[in-house]
Amino acid sequence: KRPTSTTPDQRGAGDELHQGVKRGERLTTATGTPLGDGQNSLKVGDRGPTLLEDFAFRDKMFHFDHERIPERVVHARGYSAHGTLECLEAIPDLTRAAPFQRKGQETEAFVRFSTVAGNLGSPDLARDVRGFAVKMYTDEGNWDLVGNNIPVFFIQDATKFPDLVHAVKEEQDRGWPQAQSAHDTFWDFVSLMPESTHMLLWQMSDRTIPRSFRFMEGFGVHTYRFVNADGDDTFVKFHWKPRQGLQSVVWNEALKINGADPDFHRRDLYAAIDSGDLPQWDLGVQVFDEAFADEFDFDVLDSTKLIPEEVLPVRVIARLTLDRVVDNMFAENEQVAFGTHNVIPGIDFTNDPLLQGRNFSYLDTQLKRLGSTNFTQLPVNAPRCPVRHFQRDGHMQTDPQLGRGNYEPNSLSGDDRGPRADVVHGYQSVVRQEQGPTRRLRAESFADHYSQARQFFISQTDVEQQHIVNAFGFELSKVEDPRIRTRVLANLLNVHDDLASGIATVLGVPLPAASEAAVPTRTDLPESAALSIQLNG
Ligand code: HEM
Repeated sequence: KRPTSTTPDQRGAGDELHQGVKRGERLTTATGTPLGDGQNSLKVGDRGPTLLEDFAFRDKMFHFDHERIPERVVHARGYSAHGTLECLEAIPDLTRAAPFQRKGQETEAFVRFSTVAGNLGSPDLARDVRGFAVKMYTDEGNWDLVGNNIPVFFIQDATKFPDLVHAVKEEQDRGWPQAQSAHDTFWDFVSLMPESTHMLLWQMSDRTIPRSFRFMEGFGVHTYRFVNADGDDTFVKFHWKPRQGLQSVVWNEALKINGADPDFHRRDLYAAIDSGDLPQWDLGVQVFDEAFADEFDFDVLDSTKLIPEEVLPVRVIARLTLDRVVDNMFAENEQVAFGTHNVIPGIDFTNDPLLQGRNFSYLDTQLKRLGSTNFTQLPVNAPRCPVRHFQRDGHMQTDPQLGRGNYEPNSLSGDDRGPRADVVHGYQSVVRQEQGPTRRLRAESFADHYSQARQFFISQTDVEQQHIVNAFGFELSKVEDPRIRTRVLANLLNVHDDLASGIATVLGVPLPAASEAAVPTRTDLPESAALSIQLNG
């Protein structure tokens, strides 16, 4: 069930106080025993000692001692809201995904925006990528579109993700910085990973300091698949376009806001929804087939690349409206579990090696973070459609499945009672032909790391280009090891001379030779070989 919705004028009306709290309720223990005194522990005489017998004290302290759960390993700092996705254009010819079958169809949604690197208490206006995760409670299960506000990513292969995150997070020997990329480990890593160059350009642009969550785009990043009722599939990329427009702040503004109000983005989203100024995004798609994909020099399975909207315009199919703030930050914002693996009939994966790794990672981390296999039963994660399976028991089981025959197939539940897989309407993975030798080398189609970075830089106005140069200059000026700066500059010569020389001027250092770039741009070599070339000169 959806938690009770409250609006400002409902609050305090009748017996209900704010958010469903009632007047005149009795204070109890967790097991319901009404308390005679909640503020004093049971003691001997006037001055103690305190008695172990005080079950009310132990009940209270035991729960308090266990209030914290681990913060997310990335995207720890976030803020959420509830909303509705409305279908603007039915597309059953492309996909049988439940939200897009009928114009006007509404699907409940929950959105969590986040920064990536900072810890739970870090400031909102860090120069960082923003997460844009949307859970859609469809009639055919929960579909999560776990995206970012940047259309590309730092790495091509999921196995690099732990390295990337270790480099981005606060340095392990110092514990800082909590929220920014201005430090040696981050720049060291990206200087050795040319595939991160395109994303780096976006990160140093105004995009990464949005004015608020309401003024930023969202992207699914990966190429996914749409599948229609006949089993025909096409490639699809997802885009969220803010109807408020796209707005950012400049770095000096971000610094001031972070100091004055580190919760600025949280407050902004809450205030907008609470006052009825409901934020909206159009959901658009870029749909294409294999033949179209083959025309590009790059690979559509490579998450460091985008498909230019000039080449393939975004087609708007739905609109998301956020209309309800969270009632409880822990129950909703912290306990929500998004994952790319949460798909519904009509949505399927591609062989993007980043996406395939993500499909493993989210479920895995949530078992640890949420502490139980049964986190799908938490109200924010529970589907709004019927759920029936043969999973049972486990920690915190609150939704025991009924019936004697708790396995498949079984004859004890009877045809009309037991759940049966539905071969026609149930989820069927797209039939794909896969073949080839097992190997770790990346395909040659993943090798170009600079063309789209260059296109991005050139597409910016003069002012925006200067902001990018200044951002690189500022961040690199904080790097202590000069060899790292040199490598970054040498890599950026591959993007644009103006970019590299502009940054060198800001830093007051000479422009290095292109040969000082760290890693050969060939990706037909295993990384160990590439690095040994670098180390051996
Ligand atoms: C959160 C893994 C790439 C978007 C997370 C979490 C993990 C993770 C472990 C924490 C989840 C939790 O505790 O519930 C990975 C891996 C990646 C990857 C292994 C690459 C191999 C990406 C990419 C995007 C993305 C490319 C964007 C398209 C997000 C978002 C969240 C998140 C938005 C926060 C979800 C929330 O608000 O709860 N990721 N991630 N990640 N990731 Fe990724």
